[in-house]
Amino acid sequence: PHSFFSLSPSSLSVDKESVQRQIDELSTFSDTPAPSVTRVLYSEKDVLARRYIKKLMEQAGLSVREDAVGNIFGQWSGSEPALAAVATGSHIDAIPYSGKYDGVVGVLGAVEAINLLKRSGFQPKRSLEVIMFTSEEPTRFGIGCLGSRLLSGSETLANALKETVDGQNISFFGAAKFAGYNIHEEHLSNVFLKKGSYFAFLELHIEQGPVLEDEGVSIGIVTAIAAPASINVEFEGNGGHAGAVLMPARNDAGLAAAELALAVEKHVLDSGSIDTVGTVGILELHPGAINSIPSKSHLEIDTRDIDEKRRNSVIEKIHQSAIDIAKNRRVKLSEFQIINQDPPALSEKSIINAMEVAAQHLNLSHKLMISRAYHDSLFMARISPMGMIFIPCYKGFSHKPEEYASIDDIANGVKVLALTLAKLSLA
Ligand code: GLV
Ligand code: MN
Ligand code: MN
Ligand code: MN
Repeated sequence: PHSFFSLSPSSLSVDKESVQRQIDELSTFSDTPAPSVTRVLYSEKDVLARRYIKKLMEQAGLSVREDAVGNIFGQWSGSEPALAAVATGSHIDAIPYSGKYDGVVGVLGAVEAINLLKRSGFQPKRSLEVIMFTSEEPTRFGIGCLGSRLLSGSETLANALKETVDGQNISFFGAAKFAGYNIHEEHLSNVFLKKGSYFAFLELHIEQGPVLEDEGVSIGIVTAIAAPASINVEFEGNGGHAGAVLMPARNDAGLAAAELALAVEKHVLDSGSIDTVGTVGILELHPGAINSIPSKSHLEIDTRDIDEKRRNSVIEKIHQSAIDIAKNRRVKLSEFQIINQDPPALSEKSIINAMEVAAQHLNLSHKLMISRAYHDSLFMARISPMGMIFIPCYKGFSHKPEEYASIDDIANGVKVLALTLAKLSLA
């Protein structure tokens, strides 16, 4: 059955019960109570979750391998294994107090897409591969898409990781070792994949926004991923006693941070485009005592836009504000570090077309849209033609415990994924 259209919609049945059970089981590997999920890179819970995914891959008959940083690959060998494979996948790490679906749907859904194709008797020509990426979320080491960024050949990241520590001062290598990955510095470049390693890369993901649900559309076909950036900032002042130091004598690092947070909002709004966003998601004061003037403040700023130039000009304005605020408040701007400043990515036309054909074949309503969130696809696009499939999620909620996607919507996404994989595998 080497044909795509021999896969009739009725022959494609998703095992919804199993997929829902897997989503629920995976969510129990969490460091915070349900319904929230917290699963941080190389933590004990991350290790358990990784073991769970590898087992599912093996049960699906995939041959499993891991690279030095723990990107996990499960391969179904095609009839022409020398051809570049078609890959799909996502991540299973979860930011603090988030939900069960972000990333997870794209990993469990990918394994189920393989199971479904196997049940239907399909034989791939190009090999099909499921990838579980290491640390899409920046939680532990401050850099998003760690695994896929390395896969895409980022020398910058490979070098930075040699010096990188987490909030507990645990090195990247120390944390990896705890999780069973004994990485040597020189192994990091082994993770790099050459351009052309894959014929195509697909990612299934919840939308994380409200559009599909609002419009009653089943499938979003992503045309582009917005350009993310993140910045770390630190101010330092003299601190002192909250009662004894009079107001004119202060240089309060906390107030400098507060002012910069408001400046971020102002510069973002001033861009004049609804597509420009900025967030101060981390704001820490030192020493953090009610009766002590903050002597140090630390902010982490996330800003994004579909227009890279406009996003970069927001970053410049934020930098200028940080300098001005430090001067006016007589504090020191001891750090202004751009952690990442990534360009946007475009989906491949032929893959968009394959996803549209798949949705039509399945009689599912669909629309083209951009992704405002970033994904491992942003980096896979550097080494492979890329496409993404979105499914609706409840009220667009994500990165919070209320995140939810119905199993019917997930099943629709899995079917579109399976058909697109099948079509591309025969190309
Ligand atoms: C991914 O989690 C993002 O922050 O867009
Ligand atoms: Mn996320
Ligand atoms: Mn995600
Ligand atoms: Mn810092």
